Amino acid sequence: MSIIEAKDITYEYPDGTEALKNVDFQVEKGKIVALLGPNGAGKSTLFLHFNGILRPTSGEINVEGQTIDYSKDGLMQVRQKVGIVFQNPDDQLFAPTVVEDVAFGPLNMGLPPEEVEKRVADALEKVGMNGFEKKPPHHLSGGQKKRVAIAGILAMDPQIMVLDEPTSGLDPKGASQILKLLYKLNEEGMSIIISTHDVDLVPLYADKIYIISNGEIIKEGTPHHVFEDVATIRNANLRLPRIAHLMEILKKEDKLAFSEKYPLTIGEARKSLVEFIENPENSE
Ligand SMILES: Nc1ncnc2c1ncn2[C@@H]1O[C@H](COP(=O)(O)OP(=O)(O)OP(=O)(O)O)[C@@H](O)[C@H]1O
Ligand SMILES: [Mg+2]
Repeated sequence: MSIIEAKDITYEYPDGTEALKNVDFQVEKGKIVALLGPNGAGKSTLFLHFNGILRPTSGEINVEGQTIDYSKDGLMQVRQKVGIVFQNPDDQLFAPTVVEDVAFGPLNMGLPPEEVEKRVADALEKVGMNGFEKKPPHHLSGGQKKRVAIAGILAMDPQIMVLDEPTSGLDPKGASQILKLLYKLNEEGMSIIISTHDVDLVPLYADKIYIISNGEIIKEGTPHHVFEDVATIRNANLRLPRIAHLMEILKKEDKLAFSEKYPLTIGEARKSLVEFIENPENSE
């Protein structure tokens, strides 16, 4: 069963912008799904539907098989299940100190103070922001704000975590740390939805990828299925992962033949190259 599903949704902003057109999007329980698309494609607009911040102009959003109930109580319930980390941390952080900010969600859920304290310390540790407890969020750097915003949602321990460009603004080590953390949370059972432009990191982690362009889903499937369609990727102003691009060049320009069609990761590329070097006549 899908844990989150957008069924034929369309969304029109009050100024008439049609930001989503007949979008179908499904996330199976326990999976990592990535949404890729260029600027203005509709990624943030779609994500804001997942916990009822936006309500579709037509179509419906189901969470655990139930259409979202947009009453005050219904929204409160859905927001305990679905945690959203906004693209811009300034839209999320508001408390006078980091520790109060991260504690806000769990306190609001009615958890006892000792449990809140434990969750806050744990979440800050996981994103590498312990030691910043007393700082006002607006005195943090962009990447530090992003980490605190992620900690705030982590502390609520949602079943589904939705992250709008979680690695943008993070240094390379920070980006891979956050993705590793998400991967670990996923192994522990959390369903995860990420939007990103980071095609080099995503293929390593996603079970399924959707490509959105101009408010429409134009491709979906496993990372290999999606990235094999080079024309669609490039038409959507995206690019192949660097490794896949290198392998594409080696294949086309240098006439090297590989058994794997488009290696996406360093590991896959290494395997293809070693196979080719050891046994060039067996390739393809
Ligand atoms: N509040 C708003 N009012 C009117 N139009 C909006 C509003 N917010 C977004 N849009 C428009 O909706 C479309 C989708 O925007 P959205 O923010 O969802 O794109 P995105 O894929 O998240 O882009 P990015 O990669 O830049 O974050 C864009 O054309 C944008 O200009
Ligand atoms: Mg966005």
